[in-house]
Amino acid sequence: MTRRIRKAVFPVAGLGTRFLPATKANPKEMLPVVDKPLVQYAAEEAVKAGIETLVFVTGRNKRSIPDHFDKAYELETELQAKGKEERLRLVREILPNGVAAVYIRQSEALGLGHAVLCAEPIVGDEPFAVILADDLIDDPDGGGCMAQMVRQYDEQVASILGVQRVPESHTDRYGIVDSEPVSERLSRMHGIVEKPDPTVAPSTLGVVGRYILNPAIFNKLRRTRPGAGGEIQLTDAIAALMADEPVFAYEFRGTRYDCGDKLGYLQATVEYALKHPELGAQFREYLEGLEY
Ligand code: UTP
Repeated sequence: MTRRIRKAVFPVAGLGTRFLPATKANPKEMLPVVDKPLVQYAAEEAVKAGIETLVFVTGRNKRSIPDHFDKAYELETELQAKGKEERLRLVREILPNGVAAVYIRQSEALGLGHAVLCAEPIVGDEPFAVILADDLIDDPDGGGCMAQMVRQYDEQVASILGVQRVPESHTDRYGIVDSEPVSERLSRMHGIVEKPDPTVAPSTLGVVGRYILNPAIFNKLRRTRPGAGGEIQLTDAIAALMADEPVFAYEFRGTRYDCGDKLGYLQATVEYALKHPELGAQFREYLEGLEY
């Protein structure tokens, strides 16, 4: 079994009900933050981590994601004819050379755990990354959250969950880990509780959408019954995996925006616009002059 993280799974089959009606005919992962869809930020993060195969688990609105990553001959010819070189480059660089995109269907939205299990025929018997594109993570160092996690995997050779400190009053929005510190940012997990009330939460370390998982997770997922919300929860399978092998929590460096939620999405949009090389200065001026 290879120990290199070569494949990343992108579950993009959720219903995105918090973002209706925008997500009625389009997956929420196609919502743009300034000028790029969320799924492209996620793909770029994976590529920066050395990942070569992007596995998209798509749902009923399946078309726009493959279309986004496909070569667009007509558009490229048109841009070329008009001499729009910069725009042509943007379109051509969406999927770098040497990176493959694979699509598999989740025919029913039975939960995140089920979506990950759908990727098994492509992932096979090797460790893999899972990236939830609606959790947008801005790493100030530019390397990306997944690259940080791959470095941790290389040292531990064990499953690792990306976590962040969350306000005490928000523990009921996250999977919360019970863990013991190993180093400044890494801790070994003893347990994980889905959305606990602040009064019973084992910590304030909340799981966000970044995982590196050993393939043993697939057997656990197969045995996982529907849990919270009637969905097959990835968290439940990870809790079962922990009984057999060590699992770590890693407090990544960077800011995470919950773009599956309207407020988080707006915060990401404003902050990415302020940092945008072409728009930033003008947008800052606009905000400063805004009366509210
Ligand atoms: P969420 O918990 O955000 O659910 O999924 P959701 O259905 O997409 O959105 P809301 O809560 O109704 O607004 C977390 C991630 O898991 C994927 C989603 O696409 C998202 O990336 N997912 C969830 C699936 O791929 N399949 C599922 O059955 C459920």
